[in-house]
Amino acid sequence: MDKEVILTGLRSNAEFHLGNYLGAIKPMVRLQHELKGQYQLNMFVPDLHSFTTPIDHSKLYQQTIDNVRLYMAAGMDINHTDTYVYRQSRIPAHSEMTWILGCFTNMGELNRMTQYKEKAQKSDKEISELFFQLLEEKYPEYHKALHESSDTEYEKTYKKQISELYLRWHEASQELAYEQSSAGLFIYPVLMAADILLYNAKWVPVGDDQRQHVELTRDVAIRMNNKFNQELFTVPHEWNKQLEFIGIDNGVRIRSLRNPEKKMSKSIDDPAGTIMLSDNPDEAAKKIMSATTDSVGKINYDWDKQAGVTNLLQILALTEDKDQDEVNKQWGGQDSYGQLKEAVADSVKMTLQNLQAQLSDVTTTQVEEKLAADEAKMSAVANATLEKVQKAVGLRS
Ligand code: TYM
Repeated sequence: MDKEVILTGLRSNAEFHLGNYLGAIKPMVRLQHELKGQYQLNMFVPDLHSFTTPIDHSKLYQQTIDNVRLYMAAGMDINHTDTYVYRQSRIPAHSEMTWILGCFTNMGELNRMTQYKEKAQKSDKEISELFFQLLEEKYPEYHKALHESSDTEYEKTYKKQISELYLRWHEASQELAYEQSSAGLFIYPVLMAADILLYNAKWVPVGDDQRQHVELTRDVAIRMNNKFNQELFTVPHEWNKQLEFIGIDNGVRIRSLRNPEKKMSKSIDDPAGTIMLSDNPDEAAKKIMSATTDSVGKINYDWDKQAGVTNLLQILALTEDKDQDEVNKQWGGQDSYGQLKEAVADSVKMTLQNLQAQLSDVTTTQVEEKLAADEAKMSAVANATLEKVQKAVGLRS
């Protein structure tokens, strides 16, 4: 019997950060070691997904190779017989399947994807900076008066007018941001569905931010299986089962150290809140030491009320391979945020030191050879699924 497929991918739009490592790379490496050849592992590079938002294209190729080097530095044995590493762009069936699936996906479904909304939107900070810059340039007297504290009736009126103007500016800026976002960003979940369905993957270990995309993949697969009255696609397991399989209770979502309401992200410019895997380990430790916390004064695992502290507890459990409950018990109720930060800083520093030491042992040539060999093998699998679907929709006899 064919082995069940576990499949995941990480975009190569930028270097990886700690969230990518703890949310996706580390679980995949652990699964490879624990499952010892009982499953097939597809650890692919979604390079076509890498420019749904603007990037420096001159870096993309090397970034892709370096990302695979990082999988290896993290402990993935890419020469294992059941492990395949390939680039999405080298297997044209991904793009062709995307078109077909796109015709069976509703605009409404894509509109509901929160990742799309987050990435298409401008941040409040960007919007307000430009507003106040323009106000200062065009109407310096209003700008100056805004900072004056006297509260005459006259001032109250124009302050109110400026805040109304700002709300309209905000709305118009967001509309413009949507208008200008790429169509690729909007249809990106369909390409992701193609990535999964082409290889009959049942298991898709990803971070919590990708949950909606996995659910959409299931919906489209079920819809097409029903419409064409055959098992065209293997339907990936539902989200809770995926989490059980990875061995965690909740999805992993590492937050920004500066703004713990938001996730740590490659596409947002947030250097102080983001730990890149290439960061100097001492600098990374400093970022942890100055992470935003709160004024509660007691350590509690509580995403709603103490997101910053909770983020640190999560990072500690994942970097030290401990159960979250165990870490929460050890630190819960204590009042020294400084001690918690020190423990997390040490653990993150060690993680980066190990990864960076291993990385220097992996060469570009090793990676390019592996990619070429696996791309040939995986093309055959992808083409077989594509042909089956082409027949079902009437493109082939
Ligand atoms: P991407 O490149 O944004 O992220 C790669 C992986 O890292 C996880 N991740 C995080 N986990 C925890 N905390 C964070 N702050 C954090 N940020 C990112 C993501 O959940 C993901 O697992 N669409 C995907 C790539 C993709 C894919 C696929 C994945 C394309 N096709 C098919 C699986 C199967 C993406 O943009 O991931």
